[in-house]
Amino acid sequence: MAKVVTVFGATGSQGGGVANALLEDPKFKVRIVTRSASSDKAKALQERGAEVIEGNFDDASSLERALQGAYGTFLVTQHSFEDPDFDQLEIKQGKAVADAAKAAGVQHVVFSSLEDVQKIMGFPCLHFDSKAQIEEYMKSLGLPLTVVKYPGFYDNYLSSRMVQKLEDDTYEIAYPLEGAGMHGISVAVDAGFAVTAIFKNRAEWLGRTVGFSAEKLTIQQHADILSKHLAPRVFKPSKMTSDEFSNLPFPGAKHLGDMFKFYRLGNPDHSPELTRQLYPGTRGLDQWVADNKEALLNAMS
Ligand SMILES: NC(=O)c1ccc[n+]([C@@H]2O[C@H](COP(=O)([O-])OP(=O)(O)OC[C@H]3O[C@@H](n4cnc5c(N)ncnc54)[C@H](OP(=O)(O)O)[C@@H]3O)[C@@H](O)[C@H]2O)c1
Repeated sequence: MAKVVTVFGATGSQGGGVANALLEDPKFKVRIVTRSASSDKAKALQERGAEVIEGNFDDASSLERALQGAYGTFLVTQHSFEDPDFDQLEIKQGKAVADAAKAAGVQHVVFSSLEDVQKIMGFPCLHFDSKAQIEEYMKSLGLPLTVVKYPGFYDNYLSSRMVQKLEDDTYEIAYPLEGAGMHGISVAVDAGFAVTAIFKNRAEWLGRTVGFSAEKLTIQQHADILSKHLAPRVFKPSKMTSDEFSNLPFPGAKHLGDMFKFYRLGNPDHSPELTRQLYPGTRGLDQWVADNKEALLNAMS
């Protein structure tokens, strides 16, 4: 009989990739949790066979319904930089899902965590530190856990946020990495198949942490790849430092600046080898850009 896996965030990037890959595997029955069962994304998943539970991280009874009878669950927690206490809310919500998974006797929890930057580096990165605290709580409950860590999504290039067209018609990539390398992956496809492989091989992956990555590239290398495939457009890295980025006037700039500083100085542990062991089809940026050329051109038009 197919095993039920409850996917949180299935109408979003990480959970969407996981739900998509699980739906292709007859060993699993996908249950998704959404605040709006009538949204286009929820309905599209339902049409492909997903069971849809209307729920909310803030509603314990909906978490109970979502996890009742589930074999596994994929959890990615959320935060809104508009909320000054976003990290505390994220921790509260993540712990509520952990409690519900424990109560329901879920046999395999795959949690999308991130590093405890405060502990490792001595400076905070609140949307990372919050996930590390949830991970610690899950461990303290003795949940049957596999921890995954996502690097920067290649898919961020499909929204125009990280690329800006300058007056000279060149395109500037905003990642303020100051020459350092950054791990990356396709969140919508490749990472989802890697998570599915973890659910398929519980005994091998239980108790382990996997930092996903297709490869580690500098932003100059990103620029060269984008320029090659999207010519005649020319891409180049921003010269901004992470500290300058932190001072930009938008909500979350400080926390994202902290994140880029951590990427640069903390050398977070991501493994292309383990990622390809899980999903041999994991594409590097060059292949991903080639595969998404039309969508990228639309996003940057
Ligand atoms: N962007 C990157 O490069 C990157 C890299 C690594 C990690 N991350 C982390 O990724 C996380 C965001 O994940 P994502 O990009 O996959 O999210 P996303 O695409 O923004 O989608 C958000 C998802 O969360 C669900 N959701 C939001 N609030 C909820 C609530 N109160 N109760 C239940 N579900 C709720 C939404 O479902 P409905 O709207 O259907 O309810 C939706 O499916 C962040 O924590 C970030 O730190 C991002």
